[in-house]
Amino acid sequence: MAILDIITPENPILRQPAEPVSRDQLKTLQPLIDDMIETMRAANGVGLAAPQVGRSLRLAVIETLPQYDDDGDEIPDSRDLFVIVNPEIVWQSRKEEEGIEGCLSIPGYVGEVSRHYAVRVQTQNRYGKKQRLKFNGWTARIFQHEIDHLNGILFTDKLTAPENYWTEEEYYKDDEEESAERVVSAD
Ligand code: CO
Repeated sequence: MAILDIITPENPILRQPAEPVSRDQLKTLQPLIDDMIETMRAANGVGLAAPQVGRSLRLAVIETLPQYDDDGDEIPDSRDLFVIVNPEIVWQSRKEEEGIEGCLSIPGYVGEVSRHYAVRVQTQNRYGKKQRLKFNGWTARIFQHEIDHLNGILFTDKLTAPENYWTEEEYYKDDEEESAERVVSAD
């Protein structure tokens, strides 16, 4: 396994719609998938799409946020890992929710983005098996962010207002009084 380089918006691959993955191709992509998982975890991310490592493929890895017990300790094995191949959002709630996002391809910045509160996703897993998944809240947000990457879209395209974009330093300084707000960073 290997840690991969994550590209930034200067690289045009990040802006290209990614190519669908065929069944035969998927068999050859297993080492890439393992490397993407390792790279996401090394960067403390909750998601990483193949275009972010310079591969224009409809493939992403996602690891959900942990759950915490009443004492505030992380519950072991409470994170779920997903490998999504050729994913499509087949339903989205009318209800939207604003939240703060970051991106491993735009290090050091966060911004406010409105996302559908709930989505249904049709996808294949890493072995090509078809799955239909439903998520809400932060997990639905991560899926929307990663599937946007497969269409060349970055969270900075979807800010609720141009001024709702900050360096992490600015955001956390301004946000001290609102520290209860949870942040999905570095996905
Ligand atoms: Co991202």
